[in-house]
Amino acid sequence: MCGIVAYIGHREAYPIILKGLKRLEYRGYDSAGVALVNNGLNVYKKKGRVAELEESVVGKDLHSNIGIGHTRWATHGEPSDRNAHPHVSANGKLAMIHNGIIENYAQLKKDLQNKGYQFKSDTDTEVLLNFIEDIQRNNQCTLEEALRIALKRVTGAYVIVLIDAEHPDTLIAARKGSPLVIGVGKGEHFLASDASPIIEYTKEVVYVNDYELAILRGDELILKNLGNEKLTPYIQKLDLELAAIEKGGYDHFMLKEIFEQPDTIFDCLRGRLDATAGTITMSGVQNYLEQLVNAPRIIIIACGTSWHAGLVAEYVIEELCRIPVEVEYASEFRYRNPIVRKGDVIIAISQSGETADTIVAIEKAKEQGAIIFGILNVVGSSIARISHAGAYTHAGPEIGVASTKAFTAQLVVLTMVALKIAHAKKSISEELYSTLLKELHEVPGKAATILKDTDAIKKIAEKYKDAANALYLGRGYNFPIALEGALKLKEISYIHAEGYPAAEMKHGPIALVDASLSVYFVATKDTYYEKVVSNIQEIKARKGKVIAVISEGDETIGPMADDVMIIPEAHEIVAPMLSVIPLQLLSYYTGVARGLDVDKPRNLAKSVTVE
Ligand code: M6R
Repeated sequence: MCGIVAYIGHREAYPIILKGLKRLEYRGYDSAGVALVNNGLNVYKKKGRVAELEESVVGKDLHSNIGIGHTRWATHGEPSDRNAHPHVSANGKLAMIHNGIIENYAQLKKDLQNKGYQFKSDTDTEVLLNFIEDIQRNNQCTLEEALRIALKRVTGAYVIVLIDAEHPDTLIAARKGSPLVIGVGKGEHFLASDASPIIEYTKEVVYVNDYELAILRGDELILKNLGNEKLTPYIQKLDLELAAIEKGGYDHFMLKEIFEQPDTIFDCLRGRLDATAGTITMSGVQNYLEQLVNAPRIIIIACGTSWHAGLVAEYVIEELCRIPVEVEYASEFRYRNPIVRKGDVIIAISQSGETADTIVAIEKAKEQGAIIFGILNVVGSSIARISHAGAYTHAGPEIGVASTKAFTAQLVVLTMVALKIAHAKKSISEELYSTLLKELHEVPGKAATILKDTDAIKKIAEKYKDAANALYLGRGYNFPIALEGALKLKEISYIHAEGYPAAEMKHGPIALVDASLSVYFVATKDTYYEKVVSNIQEIKARKGKVIAVISEGDETIGPMADDVMIIPEAHEIVAPMLSVIPLQLLSYYTGVARGLDVDKPRNLAKSVTVE
């Protein structure tokens, strides 16, 4: 939610910030702005995409070696020029960008208004900025001191970056609960919400922690805590290539990321799975194997697509490990009074590793003594740092707002974790263990087969693109895939879609079925197959349109369905890694056919760092 970029050094700041904002646009895209210093502040901001900001500044004074930029996902105040960041303080000297929410902004605003402050926007950000300015004025102190005092009095989450027109040699930033990376160059520093705006200039980065302040000059980086104690910055090497964050010839990131899946699944397995030797090497699991094997219960917490991966894992872990599993929405778990018992293991799943609800849910479980095992895609992310152990999905940067390759990689990691526990626990036979290792090994090749020819899926998308509603049905391992298919369709095409366990349909949703309803079945050959065939009959009897994902060689469903999408046969435990791919493509092609911006669907953002 919201992308921030800042620069200080010997180069022109504006082009670096603009390029960085384009890379961070996936985090929010309802307005954008920059603040530069050249004999005073120059602030330019615009409702809409970064490209609109770019157009609007043609011919303006853009010269500066220091600057801050922001791309917004609105929380307080509608998307508009005046609510766009950066905001400028009442005295006109300070400019600030912010990612997060200041929860006690209303009281602070009232206090400031009583002192005569007037506000130009509806944002919590402008309140915090004037609060800082007010402290500075009253205490006659430096901006850094004023910021420290202010941050001790605000509640909420933030990354903020400030510039002072009277001190154009310094950038000041602070973090609590939202991500912030510093790029360390030669005589220059970069700041951003993630490393993508930084990688082409430097590979040396520092991840700022909560309650830390960074004071940056061209050749100086000072890190402090809120108690004004200096900290030693831990400089890490970035393991990211520029090509990974570019479209590489595809029309959209979403399509590129769907097509990357044979490689990302392979990368996820690489160095871990050896089907011939019969081994799975995962140090994160190995170090906590005893606790995992003996866990009385596993609680999975996640949001959105990651929650769907958790649901698949519930089926897999219970089947293979015979450990009870509960799958929780992080947003519900954090506000309940959840019961976490001694020995319980929490598996937290998150692509970004920055989802606010998941972070707080983890903290809550940790307070009660749970072991936290993170399944994450972004190395060094907030959740990675608060987990006791974990496993990365190695899917590479996922930029399209819809999660695709991260999901399949999550399924692969979760299945390997389950297999490792089950093998150590001896809760499955050697024969099933070897079969599943071999099946996992074959997933990248089978995913490539699905992607070899996607024309049929594109035609189906075009045929049903004007449907008003869609129902997604599946059973067993494929029930969460039905949920995921429905989520993908609604977020990318804005068609109302619901996912349901196929058998539940007759307890209500069947009332919706008529000739205008598209019903998508995930109906691969598995334990539930015959039952699903009966459910298809029930839909056909009521004239619903049936579109089914089926296994190669299936001769039963083809004649019954209006359309089919065929995937290679696979063991039911690995089938979800494949059955989801046609549904990802279907939502992509539907969104494109409806003329929508599939990489940046309305109202959404990639990284949900507000609750
Ligand atoms: O980064 P996370 O995996 O924690 O994100 C969770 C959800 O916000 C995310 O999966 C969201 O549902 C996606 N837009 C789905 O495509």
